[in-house]
Parts: sequence; C-alpha cells; structure tokens
Amino acid sequence: MIPIKNERELVVMRQACKITAAARALAGEMVRPGVTTKAIDKAVHDFIVAQGAKPSFLHYSGYPASACISVNDVVIHGIPDGYKLKEGDIVSVDVGACWKGFHGDCAATFACGRISPTAQKLIDVTKESFFEGLKFARQGYRISDISHAVQSHVEKNGFSVVRAFVGHGVGENLHEEPEVPNFGSPGRGPRLVKGMTLAIEPMVNVGGWEVRVLKDRWTTVTVDGSLAAHYENTVLITDGEPEILTVAEGL
Ligand code: MF3
Ligand code: CO
Repeated sequence: MIPIKNERELVVMRQACKITAAARALAGEMVRPGVTTKAIDKAVHDFIVAQGAKPSFLHYSGYPASACISVNDVVIHGIPDGYKLKEGDIVSVDVGACWKGFHGDCAATFACGRISPTAQKLIDVTKESFFEGLKFARQGYRISDISHAVQSHVEKNGFSVVRAFVGHGVGENLHEEPEVPNFGSPGRGPRLVKGMTLAIEPMVNVGGWEVRVLKDRWTTVTVDGSLAAHYENTVLITDGEPEILTVAEGL
C-alpha cells in the first residue's frame, strides 16, 4: 500500500521537509578544508534538535549519526568521523528530520574548495538527473518513467547509476512504498497519484555502477574506486506540477 497524504498531513510534512532542507544547507556551508565530518554531523544534529525535530537517521537500524557524510568514492551512508576534509574532496551530505511524526529526507554533494572538472561535472549531472526525473513526477506517469529519465541523463553524460540502492516513499516512515529506482525501462511500476510523497535520489558514479558495503555495514563505496555523487529531495505528487518539499525557504 502506498500511503497517500491528506492536506493536514502535508502541512506537517512541509515543515519536516523545510527543517531537513535547512539542515542540508547548513551542512553544505560548513564544507571546507580542515573541517571534520563529525563536526558537520554535530551541527546538523544540534540544528534539527533546536527546531524541535528529531534526526531521522540517528539509531535508524542502528545507524550511529544524524547525517550520512560520504566523501569521494563513498556513494552513501558514510559515517561521520574525525576525517578532515581536504581541498578537492567531494562531500555528499544526506539528512533526515522528523517533525510531529513525519519525515523529510534530502541530500546533495558539495565541493570542498577547488575540485577537478570531472568532479564538478559529476555533481552537476547528478543534480540535473534529479530534475530530469522530476519532469515525470506527475499524475498519469508511472514510477519507472522517473527512473528511466534519471538513467538516460546520467548515461548520456558517460556516468553510471547505482542499482543496489533506490529512492523510496517517505512520510510517517523514513522508508515506505514505493521503491523509486534510478534505472529501468519506462511505463512500469505503480501509477503516480496526487498525495504521494517520494524521495527521488539519484546516486551516480563516474566509473561502473557496482558498489560494495564496507565491514562497518554502512559505508557504501564504488567498487572501482571512482568518485560518486548523490542528490535527493522529498517530492509531493499533485494534480499539476510536482512540489519539491525539501526547500529551506521560509524557515
Ligand atoms: N537518505 C537515506 C535513505 O534514503 C539515508 C538513510 S540511511 C540511515 O535511505 F540509516 F542512516 F538512516
Ligand atoms: Co532517501
């Protein structure tokens, strides 16, 4: 069953998502040489708590932090630690906040100082692929129309999409139905209906799509060691234009 949110629930979700987006922006502003990923995580945690919300990721399936901070060849689920960011790193920050029982979920990849042209292109193509997918986040299309649009844009630019992890419905649960893959043929999967809230989240590698999870059971890296980027927003399906809920404006 795919949960459909009513107007009352959407009022709460919009607020959860605003807090989440503001936490992502705050993290992005902290990305510079010398800053530890743990310091960014602490700032994200303290900000979310100060808003009266809860960090959605903290203790989720045993996850030990409030943000996932994934540097260079780490695709997702990087655990914040004492690593000091250095010039040229690319830093994916994924955050979630729960407000009055509803979650927001969003991510972006940030440049640490000057980065290589390939790294910049990766960040740009990953974000663009989200917006290509978003064109199909409308009533009348199906889930895999989004997936196909993301994959096409990424592969047209010579990069690859991760298969082993997918986007998802988000609401009262951080992860709920449906799955939103970043690959596949169009015209498959559930039809999109007004009131669905989806985390659309392309994960893109410079090299091959294969990833592996390290012994800590979280850190997910590219198998070939190539750079990876991530971009995610929580999106509401409406009877018209999709609404990106994870926007920080007006908080
Ligand atoms: N935003 C990610 C997701 O959509 C990260 C959640 S992983 C967690 O799955 F376990 F840390 F919460
Ligand atoms: Co997500």
